[in-house]
Amino acid sequence: MHFQLTEEHLMIQQAARDFAQTELLPGVIERDDHQKFPAEGVRKMGELGFMGMMVSPEYHGSGMDTVSYVLAMEEISKIDASASVSMSVNNSLVCWGLETFGTPEQKETYLKPLAAGQVIGAFCLSEPEAGSDATSQKTTAIDMGDHYLLNGTKNWITNGNSASIYLVIAQTDVAKGHRGINALIVEKGMPGFIVGKKEDKMGIRGSDTHSLMFTDVKVPKENRIGEEGFGFKFAMKTLSGGRIGIAAQALGIASGALELAAKYATERKSFGKPIGEHQGVAFKLADMATKVEAARLLVLKSAWLKDQGLPFDKESAMAKLYASEVAMEVTTEAVQIHGGYGFVKEYHVERLMRDAKITQIYEGTSEIQRIVISRAVLNEAAGI
Ligand code: CAA
Repeated sequence: MHFQLTEEHLMIQQAARDFAQTELLPGVIERDDHQKFPAEGVRKMGELGFMGMMVSPEYHGSGMDTVSYVLAMEEISKIDASASVSMSVNNSLVCWGLETFGTPEQKETYLKPLAAGQVIGAFCLSEPEAGSDATSQKTTAIDMGDHYLLNGTKNWITNGNSASIYLVIAQTDVAKGHRGINALIVEKGMPGFIVGKKEDKMGIRGSDTHSLMFTDVKVPKENRIGEEGFGFKFAMKTLSGGRIGIAAQALGIASGALELAAKYATERKSFGKPIGEHQGVAFKLADMATKVEAARLLVLKSAWLKDQGLPFDKESAMAKLYASEVAMEVTTEAVQIHGGYGFVKEYHVERLMRDAKITQIYEGTSEIQRIVISRAVLNEAAGI
């Protein structure tokens, strides 16, 4: 066992760090204030290969491993979690899903522009009444022979307006339960597809989160991903990998807050010395750093397992659960260390604290991760 990153990993980490500092840091507070999507930053991320990191070069991707992806996610999330969620959904959910389960035609038409960063993708599972309980899809995709007729509403969709290609999960045969669900590729501009209201959010305010409405949208049969009825398993398998990306996002939010707090603790003086020399602050920093490192190990382990082709469902849920809880704890402490300055926007930590909260909610709440982990633990105990 060794914990050394390769030269290539270190180069990607540095490239992501430099990119985030020069391209995403300027204007991040203003974008958060005005709920402005980081369109220019995301476009440049596409040019640099960050939007299709794990896709084979055959499909215009960067052909990198999952470890590289999480290293880049951490660095970008330290600075702008609104940009990194866009990156995460495009990479882990949309590109990975299409490359792994798509037909050669689907890869040619949809994966190539997505992986090259020419267009952005969205993953549409959540509904007004189906977030955690993903089998209870109310959106319907009725089989009409050569096409599906899509009707329903999706909620809280990341990249909701900026995307061009949407992977939509919908119920075709309710009697078959989760085996009656399909995953369909829907293009923006298909008649009957409307992008609905933009959510006014607590955090990741630069990310454009919308509801989507589908009214009698005709989706060609060739746009179905996988066999008839594969949609639920498609969503579960895709989300399992997606959780590694969100875990890396949470890790980045936490490690970004830790870096800011540590720097502030060396600069700010009280009672005649830097506040980091007061044990009350020093011990906080020690706990924060320990938690961040533990979260990093879980994130890297789950990424490594995926790269080895080994099972990772339990580990990705553990990484997501732990890193998101650490993100909340560490950002809260970072605000505390900054005192009054932590409560104002200029010092960034209040935004990181608001951004951290969503990592405990999307791509499966902390409670969902505990379900996935506990089922795996019980199955192992039962020898299943
Ligand atoms: N891989 C493959 N198959 C899987 C699987 C996985 N990881 N997890 C479940 N399945 C299969 C099961 O084997 C089962 O198949 P069989 O009946 O053939 O055996 C089938 O799926 C149903 O599984 P369960 O009985 O376990 O299903 P459940 O109803 O108990 O739900 C759950 C399980 C884990 C709670 C699931 O519903 C879940 O993960 N919910 C959370 C959904 C979620 O993450 N929503 C977030 C929206 S996406 C988002 O946030 C993106 C964004 O914009 C940032």
